[in-house]
Amino acid sequence: MKIFVSKTKAEASKEAYEVFANDISKGDIKTIGLATGSTPLDFYKYAREAQPNCENITTVNLDEYVGLAPDHDQSYNYFMHENLFDSVKFEKHYLPNGLAEDSEAECARYDKVLDENPLDWQLLGIGGNGHIGFNEPGASFEGTTQRVKLTEATLEANARFFDSIDEVPTEAYSMGIGSILKSKKIVLLAFGEEKAAAIKAMIEGPVTNEVPATALQSHDNVMVFLDEAAASLL
Ligand code: GLP
Repeated sequence: MKIFVSKTKAEASKEAYEVFANDISKGDIKTIGLATGSTPLDFYKYAREAQPNCENITTVNLDEYVGLAPDHDQSYNYFMHENLFDSVKFEKHYLPNGLAEDSEAECARYDKVLDENPLDWQLLGIGGNGHIGFNEPGASFEGTTQRVKLTEATLEANARFFDSIDEVPTEAYSMGIGSILKSKKIVLLAFGEEKAAAIKAMIEGPVTNEVPATALQSHDNVMVFLDEAAASLL
């Protein structure tokens, strides 16, 4: 893993964005895996400002809450449109369907999307417990798309986006760790001291399913962009 530490979240996001812009200009990105949450917000802001040419790029998002319609303002579909898709034109978008009636069929559909659109670039955040996508502690490193139950820690962390914790969906569809690891390049962003312990474990800790992000230690092209607070325990 290559680790880059900047003073602030804005600076770290800018550096990551520049890697993305450079890789696009070289024609290296045909399919990109995208993340949600507060972490990539500045990255997406830089994309909206710079208007890179993404017309030939397909996006495949990491995850979606079970039970939320695409137009629900806390769905990841809505988030992506608000923060990126309505401003920067891509060829095609894929997200899991939170309203799918048949979970098994939905996971199979998404795995087929991933097979047909091999990831060149995967943008990641990280949960305070080390989750990536919605792959919570215990998730298999070989995993494909799954319907997963969110941990109490994740529900609490994500409650800030909802009126109350009772409104946070308790399940999600998530791309599996095995699928994430197939991406040619992985770019992980983490900011703030609440991510410092997870970042230390991801980089320095033993590889264990209990910290899903430690799976990234086995990948040979991972770039990690941190602010000083997230890097404070390294
Ligand atoms: C969410 C998302 C992850 C995200 C993480 C951190 O649950 N499923 O993709 O990386 O939690 O969220 P945030 O960036 O808001 O801290």
